[in-house]
Amino acid sequence: MNIFDPCIIKLTKYLFYTGKGGVGKTSVACATAVSLADRGKRVLLISTDPASNLQDVFSMALTDKGVRIPQVPNLFVANLDPVQAAAEYRERVIAPYCGKLPDAVLTHMTEQLSGSCTVEIAAFNEFSHFITDKTVQQGYDHIIFDTAPTGHTLRMLQLPSAWSDFINKSTHGASCLGQLSGLENKKTMYKQAVDTLTDGTQTTLILVTRPETAPFKEAARASGELLTLGMTKQLLVVNGVLTARSDALSSRLYEKQQAAFTAMPECLRALPLWAVPLRSYNVTGLENVRALLHADHVPEGGEILKISHIPTLKDVIDELAEKGKRVIFTMGKGGVGKTTIAAAVAVGLTKRGLKVHLATTDPAAHLKFVLDKTSGISMSHINVKLKNCSDISPKCWIKPGKQA
Ligand SMILES: Nc1ncnc2c1ncn2[C@@H]1O[C@H](COP(=O)(O)OP(=O)(O)OP(=O)(O)O)[C@@H](O)[C@H]1O
Ligand SMILES: [Mg+2]
Repeated sequence: MNIFDPCIIKLTKYLFYTGKGGVGKTSVACATAVSLADRGKRVLLISTDPASNLQDVFSMALTDKGVRIPQVPNLFVANLDPVQAAAEYRERVIAPYCGKLPDAVLTHMTEQLSGSCTVEIAAFNEFSHFITDKTVQQGYDHIIFDTAPTGHTLRMLQLPSAWSDFINKSTHGASCLGQLSGLENKKTMYKQAVDTLTDGTQTTLILVTRPETAPFKEAARASGELLTLGMTKQLLVVNGVLTARSDALSSRLYEKQQAAFTAMPECLRALPLWAVPLRSYNVTGLENVRALLHADHVPEGGEILKISHIPTLKDVIDELAEKGKRVIFTMGKGGVGKTTIAAAVAVGLTKRGLKVHLATTDPAAHLKFVLDKTSGISMSHINVKLKNCSDISPKCWIKPGKQA
């Protein structure tokens, strides 16, 4: 498998990184941006993730306008904050009515504009600006988008076509569409953004995944859904590939990765495939970002964990069972293992004789891949429309939550 090297692959102007939480979208997007900028290309790297960690990666404060990275003169980085953008959008929509409509109506409008849909609209709004603005277009050779985990990104990209249909079908005009008010005059900009995203000569979708079964499945699903949205130019980057094995642990991991490759979904095999090796360091700080795609830049040192006793998961489950906790949440950054730990706790508590229900609030949940029916644990997917949960009377509920 070839190592992903942005300097030897002919890349389009717009690069759109997507993938399951924690697979390495930010790391690979940053390393791509730095590699291209080091080669003299003018690069703009933009995060559309509300939980962006670009500031940690570059160890500096960023803004939504784009900041030059001092040690990489050709690189500019912008951190869009969709939550902040949604607040500004809300303000813009409501301001003209202040003092003209009763307070109760204004409060209702504010509530209507405070949902996740508004955040996605605002994110797409910001995002479209970076694609369609002439000055931005002319100022850079490459514009790279680092996005939030797949579920959010898919919803954000599906919005424009939903709006167009809605606006076209609406007989009342866009002014009474609540969240969608003010969209009509943005239609041209959104159309241009979508046209650019779906033009394979301008935009490449880079699906980032880990060499593991569940991330492969999610990458396959995202690939299919984005294909139906018209993003036809796709390539696959498998991040964290083990290239050498030296002991029992690395041998086991190597075999697991190879088995996942063998069982890789058919639709992913059809894509150009590149690998990024598993590194012994975190991808933070410029030196480590540079080293991710270029092994000749080996960063120095390593941290050694100095803790004499770390409680095991068994200790945690024993304590949960002993204290009779009825509702247990697992939370954390994408891909850290919320679902796996929740499932392991559920199994542990069941083995201790408790009746357990495992529920997920994650739109991209894959509980059925983690536990099967023989586990004896009932499972459900909670969403805002959940109406009937009267048939569930567990001793203990476990909820793998969304990202913290
Ligand atoms: N090839 C690699 N080798 C070792 N560590 C890696 C590698 N790629 C990424 N990491 C580490 O994995 C963690 C997750 O990476 P990253 O933040 O890039 O993922 P992400 O997909 O952007 O996550 P999120 O969905 O939360 O935005 C980070 O701690 C990063 O330093
Ligand atoms: Mg990220």
